[in-house]
Amino acid sequence: MSTQARPGSATPAEETSPELTVLADAKQVSNAAAEEFVCLARRSIESKGEFDVALAGGSTPRAAYEILAKDAAKLPWEKIHIFFGDERCVPPDHSDSNYGMARDALLAHVAIPANNVHRMKGEVDAPAAAEQYEGDLRRHFRLSNGNPPRFDLVMLGMGDDGHTASLFPNSIGLTESSRLVVANWVEKFKQHRLTLTFPVLNNAAEIMFLVAGTAKAKVIGEIFVKKPLFDRYPVQQVKPANGRALWLLDRAAAQALPARR
Ligand code: 6PG
Repeated sequence: MSTQARPGSATPAEETSPELTVLADAKQVSNAAAEEFVCLARRSIESKGEFDVALAGGSTPRAAYEILAKDAAKLPWEKIHIFFGDERCVPPDHSDSNYGMARDALLAHVAIPANNVHRMKGEVDAPAAAEQYEGDLRRHFRLSNGNPPRFDLVMLGMGDDGHTASLFPNSIGLTESSRLVVANWVEKFKQHRLTLTFPVLNNAAEIMFLVAGTAKAKVIGEIFVKKPLFDRYPVQQVKPANGRALWLLDRAAAQALPARR
């Protein structure tokens, strides 16, 4: 495990161990995430002419999107395709909508063509919406059956119960091995959430976790200090096979980690 990683630092594609970067506070996490987003987007656009990114919901990502919106001129947005890691089953204008949040914080402020924004349809029947989104992914990434897409970047958060995207503890979506998107029943909310599955997350070139706040410290400590032999939390199932997992943590979330030099 590296604790020295810097946003934007070049990392070999075969790197699979997580990199941890601890920053002073949530604001610094958002700043670093926006900086990393810009670096990765430029790199992908230079190499393949396009940047395919899946956004996360949550408060820290929102602040990162606002920074990106202010710095809109840094990127050619027409070459960026925005997807979502998960969505709540609500219409796009609902205050819980991840798409609605990203639209308000970022997408409405940058010159991105409407066709480049691929949202999960939280307002339609959840299994049908999951199937539609899987179709969107298959078309955009020109996938042959059985292959997951390779995102240039997947942004993720982590809940204090160890969930990531909408892959919650004990939910059926945790074991999905073939579908790219599922309508995952979340018992604690008594509702479905739409979510990308682990085969998709683990095929990404870059995963960037944004984790801030004391409430996350226990799970972070259990994952990175106790290092259990089995995956107790959904977030531990994120293990990109041929990619990098970068964790941007604030000091509060990282308080159980050993003191840094
Ligand atoms: C969502 C998410 C979810 C989120 C975590 C962390 O839509 O709720 O995508 O996985 O990232 O719950 O959220 P915070 O960063 O707000 O704590």
